[in-house]
Amino acid sequence: RVHTIAAMPGDGIGTEVIAAGLQVLEALAARDGGFRLEVEHFPWGSDYYQKHGHYIPEGGLERLKAFDAIFFGAVGSQQVPDHVSLWGLRLPIAQGFDQYANVRPARVLPGVSSPLKNGQDIDWVIIRENSEGEYAGNGGRVHRGLPIEAATETAVFTRTGVERIHRFAFELARKRTARHLTLVTKSNAQRFGMVMWDEIFYEVAKDYPDVKTDRELVDAVTTRMVLKPKTLDVLVATNLHADILSDLAAALSGSLGIAPTANLNPERQFPSMFEPIHGSAFDITGKGIANPIGTFWTASMMLEHLGEFDAARRLMSAIEAATASGVHTPDLGGRATTADVTNAVCDHIGSA
Ligand code: NAI
Ligand code: MG
Repeated sequence: RVHTIAAMPGDGIGTEVIAAGLQVLEALAARDGGFRLEVEHFPWGSDYYQKHGHYIPEGGLERLKAFDAIFFGAVGSQQVPDHVSLWGLRLPIAQGFDQYANVRPARVLPGVSSPLKNGQDIDWVIIRENSEGEYAGNGGRVHRGLPIEAATETAVFTRTGVERIHRFAFELARKRTARHLTLVTKSNAQRFGMVMWDEIFYEVAKDYPDVKTDRELVDAVTTRMVLKPKTLDVLVATNLHADILSDLAAALSGSLGIAPTANLNPERQFPSMFEPIHGSAFDITGKGIANPIGTFWTASMMLEHLGEFDAARRLMSAIEAATASGVHTPDLGGRATTADVTNAVCDHIGSA
């Protein structure tokens, strides 16, 4: 079996963790023998943008379309405004390939300590609507610089968009032991889009009587995540809300550096994109200490998507063996480098 991967390291530590991720993937393919990865590198980061005036060249999405998956690092640089880099690269890919389901698992890996005393209770999957909502790109600025200057940022929710993310969330929740799905909205203050989210959720719920449901406002759910982590299993929320909740989830499970995410086009009309949830981390770029675990976990999700279930499981066990043995980068309180962690995971892959 051959899988084609578009590797897109992007900026900052993105290049460091993607290199580490590819090393681990190669070790897995060599160990398994049943599959091979054909990797093509795409240098579409902020340096490329400053040289060419665009992140994605003419026909770029067309080229990407041919790949089985996209392995993405992070985009963002101190030389380019963040809204330009985000809208220049990551959002056109996610939206262009209709990767509407963003899946973000969170749990505390062995040997890692959570800032919560009951952190071991964290075992969540946050489902983020990834194609519309608050990041639909709607709005504008008027009277720039005048005393009456104003701006709008209009969230757009479509029935199709909301229904498909709820259905996706129910399908995923159904496969888990707890079979519990929490709807997260803000339908007291936001009385149009969020009310529609709630309504459609309960319509879809009728098709999933085996999944327990409950509902929480987004502000209230943050306290529940911290105080009663065990009461949550799968959460479904809008683009903005889930963006915030998943950073909280990552921090509660030990570090932003360990959290993975998959941007899925569940119908598989287009390639899906796999990335760690962290950004390009200017403060540690070039120091060789970026935690690659989030990228490895991401790689495991990518292998699962490619149908390489054994390799995905083997990688997850190797990650857990490495974290359990205490090879930790500074964000987890250790002194290991990116290379130390990568080598530890590769060793466990070899010996598994
Ligand atoms: P960030 O995730 O880059 O960093 C936040 C903090 O977490 C920093 O102290 C950083 O050192 C630490 N951190 C992040 N990943 C780490 C890892 N793997 N190992 C160890 N420590 C890690 O978020 P920040 O600082 O808000 O953004 C920096 C840039 O990245 C901005 O340009 C932003 O727009 C971009 N960004 C891009 C994302 C993407 O491409 N998906 C996601 C988040 C931010
Ligand atoms: Mg985020």
